[in-house]
Amino acid sequence: MEATFAVGETHSLELFVGDITRQSTDAIVSAANALLLGGGGVDGAIHKAAGPRLFEACRALKKTLPGGVLAAGGAVLTGGFDLPARFVIHAVGPIYAEHDPARAAELLESCYVQAIGIARREGLASITFPSISTGVYGYPVAAAAEVAVAAVKRALASGGPAVVRFSLFDPDTFAAYHAAAVAVLGAPRAEGA
Ligand code: APR
Repeated sequence: MEATFAVGETHSLELFVGDITRQSTDAIVSAANALLLGGGGVDGAIHKAAGPRLFEACRALKKTLPGGVLAAGGAVLTGGFDLPARFVIHAVGPIYAEHDPARAAELLESCYVQAIGIARREGLASITFPSISTGVYGYPVAAAAEVAVAAVKRALASGGPAVVRFSLFDPDTFAAYHAAAVAVLGAPRAEGA
């Protein structure tokens, strides 16, 4: 289950169902929490696959953050350590129930814009996102997918990785992102089973 969409003339957005920890794009994005010390879900899977050095890197990074926390909408970069990816970008999505829908959308958009901004700054050629905030943080998947795809399109207008992938973890989430990509980007350039 996969699909590729053109984003303008020079970028592509790829959707697939799979485990983000196995992706060898330059960076993978973790759906982290404000404490930046790991957790469950995709954050837990990434920490498990990256090994203990990721935890140490996050602990060191926390010392540079005001109050030692990363507010929702923020993103920070660490190495990937034992992962195939060179880098991990830790993005803190909104807890849906804590905000009105408009604010939640702003914070979710910021995760994607900040992460692509980091990738642009680092000159990365590829990045893989999970579906940020649609698990434990309770963001409705269809709405989150629309925000995510629109945010990626907007961010890439200022440049950034040529390939942006979404590693979705179940067919329903894939279908939601596929529908959002068609709505925002038009028909896919390629589709796979
Ligand atoms: N690869 C790709 N996607 C995954 C993986 C994986 N290995 N594991 C889980 N997912 C998917 C989930 O199915 C969901 O669609 O990632 C999406 C985000 O779900 P969560 O991981 O629960 O993230 P989020 O909703 O942003 O909640 C973040 O959960 O794990 C904690 O430390 C994390 O406190 C933070 C909170």
